[in-house]
Amino acid sequence: MKLHKSVINAVVCLAALSAVVCLAGCDAQPALKDVYARDFLIGAALNREQIYEQVPAETAIVTKQFNSITPENVLKWEKLYPDPNGYNFDAADKFVEFGEKNNMFIVGHTLVWHYQTPGWVFQDADSGDTDRETLLARMKDHIFTVVGRYKGRIHGWDVVNEALDPNGNMRNTKWFEIIGEDYIAKAFEYAHEADPNAELYYNDFDMWKPSKFAGVVRLVKDLQAKGIRIDGVGMQAHWGFDYPSLEELEAAILVYSQLGVKVMMTEMEMSVLPYVRKYTGADITETAELQKELNPYPDGLPTEMQEKLAKRYAQFFSIFHRHADRISRVTFWGVQDGNSWRNNWPIRGRTDYPLLFGRDCKPKPAFDTVIKVVQTDK
Ligand code: GLA
Repeated sequence: MKLHKSVINAVVCLAALSAVVCLAGCDAQPALKDVYARDFLIGAALNREQIYEQVPAETAIVTKQFNSITPENVLKWEKLYPDPNGYNFDAADKFVEFGEKNNMFIVGHTLVWHYQTPGWVFQDADSGDTDRETLLARMKDHIFTVVGRYKGRIHGWDVVNEALDPNGNMRNTKWFEIIGEDYIAKAFEYAHEADPNAELYYNDFDMWKPSKFAGVVRLVKDLQAKGIRIDGVGMQAHWGFDYPSLEELEAAILVYSQLGVKVMMTEMEMSVLPYVRKYTGADITETAELQKELNPYPDGLPTEMQEKLAKRYAQFFSIFHRHADRISRVTFWGVQDGNSWRNNWPIRGRTDYPLLFGRDCKPKPAFDTVIKVVQTDK
């Protein structure tokens, strides 16, 4: 039997249509950025490989799940400008292009930090400390060069990172030692001058601890009193099973939002491993006993731990969802578990499971519970 051409066309069309429907409908995995679209941006920190799209399964997660990106390292001073001979913007340019290609809110991280900043920045010709005027000039030049290059393209900047100690006092860094307390105000002023439309943030860890948040409140109020632009505070959110408590976190969100600034979770992950600072730098291969204690899940996370992680993530996202009017973004520090710095900190060579996607790039039970927070509240 000879089929009429128009019938063949119709069949081909139907097949194509069902393929399209299947592509949308059969891929039942929801996207975090869609589910939380009315609440806040959902971001991820990208490593170099992800910026260069070298692992297709990770690129697929990033483009499907997230509407904001932060560079894990490529915008840090030591990467951009390791020695006084000049800048290298290759990876940073690529990062911004990736965000633009995917219509993402692009975060710049970070301009002024004591860590991952090369020693020469703070030195004079004899390798002693440089003076206030020189360091301020270097800071200004760096901020103008970097923020200026991405003016109108990077939408928000972590201007100053980790300037406070655990008690909320000024952390004793070279920036503080050489310039004095006003280095923070200067950094924000320069960043604003370099791109008047960019949002400007202060970013730090342990910001849920009352001792620390007293300092952050002081810092924000001080900038505000001087009429200096600050749009938000970033709580890094490098958390674990025992910290922070839900109450402490919620209290901190309320305190910060009352300052009239946006609150963001900027580097979120939830370690499932014992937090053991006393072993920092230890070689865990030393004894089998120590290895078992410190690295209990080298071959996979047991079901009850997956569930514990899923529950804890859900509890935090319930708080975020409830305070969605105060929170502008939640960014995960990494895409899948294998990317996380927590595998190597505070001890090297452990196997952690702190993110929503596993090493196989599949969503974990924690992903489902985070999605369900919004679906059950509807
Ligand atoms: C801090 C920094 C980040 C990153 C993490 C650890 O939180 O802000 O850039 O270095 O530490 O990976």
